[in-house]
Amino acid sequence: MRIILVGFGVVGQSLAKILLSRASDLYTLYGINPKIVACLDSKGCAISQAGLDLDRLLEAKLSKGTVAAYDECQSQLSLADVIDGIEAELLIEMTPTNLDSAEPGLANIISGMRSSKHIITVNKGPLALAFPSLVELANHNNIKFRFSGTVGGGTPILEFAKRCLNGERIISFRGILNGTTNYILSKMEDGLKFNEALNDAKAKGYAEASPSLDLDGYDAASKLAIMANWIMGLKVTIRDIKREGITGIDLSDIKNAAMNKNSVKLIASCDNKRLEVKPTIIKKVDPICVNGTLNAVTFCSEYSGDKTIIGRGAGGMETASSIVRDLIEIREAIAEDVL
Ligand SMILES: NC(=O)c1ccc[n+]([C@@H]2O[C@H](COP(=O)([O-])OP(=O)(O)OC[C@H]3O[C@@H](n4cnc5c(N)ncnc54)[C@H](OP(=O)(O)O)[C@@H]3O)[C@@H](O)[C@H]2O)c1
Repeated sequence: MRIILVGFGVVGQSLAKILLSRASDLYTLYGINPKIVACLDSKGCAISQAGLDLDRLLEAKLSKGTVAAYDECQSQLSLADVIDGIEAELLIEMTPTNLDSAEPGLANIISGMRSSKHIITVNKGPLALAFPSLVELANHNNIKFRFSGTVGGGTPILEFAKRCLNGERIISFRGILNGTTNYILSKMEDGLKFNEALNDAKAKGYAEASPSLDLDGYDAASKLAIMANWIMGLKVTIRDIKREGITGIDLSDIKNAAMNKNSVKLIASCDNKRLEVKPTIIKKVDPICVNGTLNAVTFCSEYSGDKTIIGRGAGGMETASSIVRDLIEIREAIAEDVL
């Protein structure tokens, strides 16, 4: 399968490492022989219809800071030229999340769909702002569109609800969708003040470049919008979500909750079509009351009751593993179409 990678940062490089280490079992177990024919970052691109050597690509990025250093005669093609012009079956979009305009991810996904490429993305922006129209465009162009890593990183929250609970009617769900704020609130339970906990999260590399994305609940709200569309069939964007972040929480709120065997958590919920993200007091024995950077979601279904999925919500390798999952699913879906 010929693949174009757009974005070669933490997730993109992790994906390259997984593809290198799992090449033989991806082929023997799933019949997938991924060939990366183009790779782009913000400074340029590397192209080879014969397939890029991933070790060399990683080395170029590490030593020179851009994939364009892969070749001595660097390609002058623009991002749009590569996406439209290079022959490939699949485009993997891994540029930074932008919750204002969704760019550059949105344009990349649309161009990929219009040039009949299947799409995998881990970028929340385009889905949080334009989920219904992207799914419609994918269907119209008869392409497969997967985005497992946009919610839960490597933890298959979307698949759990969509596939494992298939046939059930999910009535509501609620959970922790942002690992950074959960880490900060957990550290505050250990006695750190808000700013100390935030600095600790920054030092460990958990906080986004713009802390407001996490702290003001935008990241959790974008994931909630994706889940509401995909799992509940609602046609909403991040703008439809009532949102309150954790900047107003202080140590006394955390201590008061703890005295009653409760915790304060940033909970995203979808209940009777009401969508909101807000700090909420929950019981410590509640299954979604997880600590550190973990994510947890409880789905309440009509007949079989509550089920909770818990796991790491971010990380380069974790998120890259969700791309491999999507890749296998797309390969299987294409094979089913052919049969
Ligand atoms: N990291 C995680 O744990 C995680 C988890 C879930 C989802 N995600 C999502 O996955 C995506 C990638 O995350 P990341 O951590 O890999 O981010 P990152 O390290 O910042 O990498 C982003 C990549 O996109 C490239 N890029 C930026 N603008 C571009 C443009 N106009 N054209 C082509 N390439 C462009 C960057 O180029 P340069 O290298 O030249 O700067 C970089 O290679 C984001 O949307 C993020 O929200 C990440």
